[in-house]
Amino acid sequence: MFDRLDIQGFKALKSARKIVCLTAYTAPMAHALDPHADLLLVGDSLAMVVYGMDSTQGADLDMMIRHGAAVVRRRQCALVIIDLPAGSYEDSPQQALANASRVMAETGADGVKLEGGIAVAAQVKCLVDAGIPVMGHIGLLPQHVSAIGGFVITGRSEAEAAQLQADADALIAAGVFSIVMEGMVEPVAASIAANVSASSSVPTIGIGASPACDGQVLVTEDLLGLYDVFTPKFVRKFANLQADISTAAAAYKSAVIDGSFPAKDHLFWPKKA
Ligand code: KIV
Repeated sequence: MFDRLDIQGFKALKSARKIVCLTAYTAPMAHALDPHADLLLVGDSLAMVVYGMDSTQGADLDMMIRHGAAVVRRRQCALVIIDLPAGSYEDSPQQALANASRVMAETGADGVKLEGGIAVAAQVKCLVDAGIPVMGHIGLLPQHVSAIGGFVITGRSEAEAAQLQADADALIAAGVFSIVMEGMVEPVAASIAANVSASSSVPTIGIGASPACDGQVLVTEDLLGLYDVFTPKFVRKFANLQADISTAAAAYKSAVIDGSFPAKDHLFWPKKA
């Protein structure tokens, strides 16, 4: 048997060790990552990574639910959190609740993530009051890149730093169980992480933020070297699977062309009488 992490167990990791989070969009990836991750995030980054779209804004609710359910089917221990896609929660707490309830009911996930701070605090509170665990996401908000003119690092001015801290405070007051902090200058990220720890038991999860966060998250295809359209500065490639796939496909091609595949062992033979 295995011990599945729950929201309380996830939060308790904050005082024990660094927390490991990774994205997963498919059942086989969830199976491979589950022993190594505390949280599997079905991120709307799948619009870019899996569907080849230009931004995360192309993700829709049906897409998130289909991939979320696939990840839940093959996870054993890790928490599974699913992104609410752009356009599914911003209008009102009621809209957020209707769509988050659908995600939870149709996937069996442990919670949802949505982007923004003060601007979405009412939505977060509404979901939390309804019993839906919510992960916040502040800093660089990929769902807003077309509005802000690209993937822009934030926290460079005092006003931006104060806004980030206010966003974190609003999310904590609204009841998030964790906060992703993306794309902000390190000293600001470190200070927000420290302030969050001083005022709450909410773990902060960094991506392009600071090692001072309670944990880190990366897009799995980035760290595996499987997504090369755009590699942010904060990514470390721990493997180069694109090259491995190319080598394997070339070997398959030669074996088919020279007739060495399929070999006798791969074929079906009549049973001996
Ligand atoms: O969509 C996503 O993958 C994310 C992570 C990068 C935090 O939101």
